[in-house]
Amino acid sequence: MAAAQQLSNVYPLGAVLDGRGRLRLGGCDALELAAEFGTPAYVVSEDDLRARARAFKAAFAAHTDDFLVHFASKAFGCTAVARVMAEEGLGCDVASGGELTMALRAGFDPAHIELHGNAKTEDELRYAMDAGVGVIVVDNLHEVDALLRLLDEHGAVAPQRVQLRIAPGVSPDTHPSISTGGPNTKFGLNLQDAPRALEALQASADVEVEGLHFHIGSQILELGPFRDALERVTAALGTDFPVWNLGGGLGVTYGPEQAAPPSIEDYAAAKVAMVRELCGPGKRIVDEPGRALVANSTVTLYTVQSVKRNVQTWVGVDGGMSDNLRPMLYGAHYEVEVADRFGGDTPCIVTGKHCESGDVLIRDALLDDPRPGDVLVTPATGAYGFSMANTYNGQPRPPVVFVSNGDARLVVRRESYEDLFSRDV
Ligand SMILES: Cc1ncc(COP(=O)(O)O)c(C=O)c1O
Repeated sequence: MAAAQQLSNVYPLGAVLDGRGRLRLGGCDALELAAEFGTPAYVVSEDDLRARARAFKAAFAAHTDDFLVHFASKAFGCTAVARVMAEEGLGCDVASGGELTMALRAGFDPAHIELHGNAKTEDELRYAMDAGVGVIVVDNLHEVDALLRLLDEHGAVAPQRVQLRIAPGVSPDTHPSISTGGPNTKFGLNLQDAPRALEALQASADVEVEGLHFHIGSQILELGPFRDALERVTAALGTDFPVWNLGGGLGVTYGPEQAAPPSIEDYAAAKVAMVRELCGPGKRIVDEPGRALVANSTVTLYTVQSVKRNVQTWVGVDGGMSDNLRPMLYGAHYEVEVADRFGGDTPCIVTGKHCESGDVLIRDALLDDPRPGDVLVTPATGAYGFSMANTYNGQPRPPVVFVSNGDARLVVRRESYEDLFSRDV
């Protein structure tokens, strides 16, 4: 039998084609996983998750002793994934009461959780205070007023640590839907309004303003925009803050045609160097990667249900926009293969099963003569796939299966039809 073949870095660590050309993930055969757990299913390499968490920590540790890496839990809002990040010693960034609940269930120390959000409700702010969340990242002037009133009512003994979210007015080269720090964004305070918020917060004994926060967007493939953002923020607001939270944003590889992202090592080195140069020594750096921690850890398995030869070949699978909304939201591109026949050359459109013509997963697939019953694999679906999953057309959401060393374990079961109606009154 032929030797196993390593796959590109779009696939999780350790993914190979075995001697028969069948995909193996974490030592498990993809077709057997599909048979055991059904499809669609998210299959996560636990070793890959842990390796990336360690790589981020090591990359910052190589340049500074004073840093925190926080998992942006929105990227893969699954308790088991968050638990891995907690076990690896990361903190957690949450953007809602639901994500806060998940982070607490995953075992994060509340002191290592940060609450974000451009439209936090008062209930969410109260929940964060009651839970003892370490940092609240204040987004706007209304929130300043609400927070100060709620802290007064709450009557905590120690001041609440806060960071101020700034919109630096920088637009990196990424899709507008995932650009978050430009001149006309819903996130954070612009550089003109930020001083008012700072003044009000710094005048209160109930808060400790430990630093500034900015996150300029996601899937960023160059390091320059991070520095541009810090230059603008320090020029406008000074450097007199002990903590600098630089958000996340490091891009990942979705396919060979895409420009390669900077390595985790280069990204961390650049961020530490720019803080040292522009803010001075002795600052704490917080980084909040989401996508770069989880995207390539995961593949989605589907089963082909129909093949139609119209003007083009349409391959219909048993999932779609309910398990991966990114192609529909902002034209995200994914690779796809038949799990036991990689490297085909039949041009196909891989579509989902939903009642929308726009429910297309991959427009320019090349597959090996796809047939109903084939298992398809799309790699790099760990970020913002599970998190944005929905039940359109009454489609139960897929399970999450962890694989490692030849073992497969279910960490989120498939949603049932009963689950779909569990809220009916
Ligand atoms: C405040 C904040 N931090 C971190 C992230 C994670 O970004 P990424 O997944 O691109 O690393 C986001 C994503 O939107 C965010 O809004």
